[in-house]
Amino acid sequence: MSAVPVIAIDGPSASGKGTVAQEVARQLGFHYLDSGALYRLVALAAMREGADLGDEARVAQIAGDLSARFEGAEVFLGDERVTDAIRTEACSIAASRVAGLPAVRRALLGRQRAARRAPGLVAEGRDMGSVVFPDAGLKVFLTASAEARAERRHKQLKEKGIAATLAALLQDLRDRDARDALRSVAPLKQSPGARLLDTTALSAGQAAALIVGWYRGANE
Ligand code: C5P
Repeated sequence: MSAVPVIAIDGPSASGKGTVAQEVARQLGFHYLDSGALYRLVALAAMREGADLGDEARVAQIAGDLSARFEGAEVFLGDERVTDAIRTEACSIAASRVAGLPAVRRALLGRQRAARRAPGLVAEGRDMGSVVFPDAGLKVFLTASAEARAERRHKQLKEKGIAATLAALLQDLRDRDARDALRSVAPLKQSPGARLLDTTALSAGQAAALIVGWYRGANE
């Protein structure tokens, strides 16, 4: 019997991975894994417990005990809905800190692999193709210029009525890219077998259609 198929989509912050991965999953009828949400949940749980985010053993224990639940677009920590709480700027920064701790990454590995269920999985993050699902049938490195990503984030925030300057967003994205790319464990990089998809001039729908086409081309 062949393994349950996985499409691994990795890339930097605000590259549109989430929207694209969900659309690919919808079109193929596959499950969807937002691995970044797990790091965000660990960060939120750790901050709520008042844990020192640099205390690797303690944060890894929190990651191992994490009571996370996904229901459609909603995310729960225990019984509490934290869909918006995990998207704040403070939580983004804390998530990228705890994601740099090897024991935290190890503690989340089993949970991520357990998401691989029939008929298939679209997994999105930074190390889906390199570490979590190295045998994924299709690996995509999704990116866009920092300027395009900052503009998309700016538009999203404006729609939510949140004020932010383009220059500050661009700086924040560059800082996060550098942290994610330079860390010693599971750094963000295009893995050898991954296809590069630059979405600077593409809509999310066009990017999703390309990925579905690649998948079908290789499997049908
Ligand atoms: O993708 P998202 O921005 O929600 O991820 C939040 C943080 O979690 C990222 O800044 C990154 O440091 C970390 N992350 C990771 N590995 C993943 C997914 C996310 O290190 N597979």
